[in-house]
Amino acid sequence: MATPITGCWVDGTFGAGGYSKALLQSGACKVLAIDKDPTTKVFLKGIQNVYGDMIKYYNQSFADMEKNEEIASRDDIYGIVLDLGVSSMHLDNPLRGFSFKESGPLDMRMGNQPGPTASEIINLCSEATLADLIFFYGQERKARKIANRIVRERKKRKINTTLELAEIIRALVPKNFKKDPATKTFQAIRIAVNNELKDLCKALVFAEKKVKKGGIIAVVTFHSLEDRIVKDFGKIMSGKGSPTNRYSPATSRVNPSLIPINKKPVIAAVDEIEKNKRSRSAKLRVYKKVSDSPSGVLAKIEFPEVELGI
Ligand SMILES: C[S@@+](CC[C@H](N)C(=O)[O-])C[C@H]1O[C@@H](n2cnc3c(N)ncnc32)[C@H](O)[C@@H]1O
Repeated sequence: MATPITGCWVDGTFGAGGYSKALLQSGACKVLAIDKDPTTKVFLKGIQNVYGDMIKYYNQSFADMEKNEEIASRDDIYGIVLDLGVSSMHLDNPLRGFSFKESGPLDMRMGNQPGPTASEIINLCSEATLADLIFFYGQERKARKIANRIVRERKKRKINTTLELAEIIRALVPKNFKKDPATKTFQAIRIAVNNELKDLCKALVFAEKKVKKGGIIAVVTFHSLEDRIVKDFGKIMSGKGSPTNRYSPATSRVNPSLIPINKKPVIAAVDEIEKNKRSRSAKLRVYKKVSDSPSGVLAKIEFPEVELGI
């Protein structure tokens, strides 16, 4: 990042603490770290051993940053960073229900939220809802066929495990040498379970209000739905989004509140992809706050919303 790291930062996706640590190492004097998965707290100790109370940890969703008293009351937040999606700890532990490689319960909740779980969605949602969800959140062309097969199979017996679901999909979607045929459907279910797109929109709107002038909003996305949301938000806030958005005022363009630091999103270099396969789909977008006050625009970004009906 070309902009110097300084002041107080919010790391909205603490995970194993890699970003928080890097921020402190690079000059941040305080990091307020958030993760909705309480198991991530184990990574706090190692950072506290070096940086003491320069780091604080909160088990909550980044969608609720405004409810966090410390964050809400501070007027010196210099940067907010989000490294979206699931962590390798989620994917590598079959008991969390994210993996289609090993059998586990169909759960997929990142945090302690009561539900719905992936099992509830797969076994209770209507065929039409499942089809919409897999189509819009998974961008899976065979969504209708998959939804139909899921409903036929669950009439015979409840679908309990990740492998049972993956096998149903693999029987329908042709093999692809790059991706498991179940990838897109699993992404769709995970997004629905964790309310990921709505949470991202809420966090962006809050971040634009909260970060001080000269400060930074940086977001790493892992699929095009997320990236589209961040890109559209950046466009609206930098005064370049045409006010076709049905939620924004249909009058003039917005005075720029944010400017993009890079014209194009930053993607991982080849050697990084070799070390960390997941980084191949990562895109980093960085914005700088250029005004003293929030834009005043109600930046309700459009994205496909599927009502679960359960
Ligand atoms: C890709 S990992 C982040 C890895 C982290 N940057 C690191 O260096 O280890 C994403 C993390 O964000 C968390 N997460 C996802 N959505 C969240 C949300 N709405 N609120 C808070 N944490 C969230 C996940 O639980 C996961 O731990």
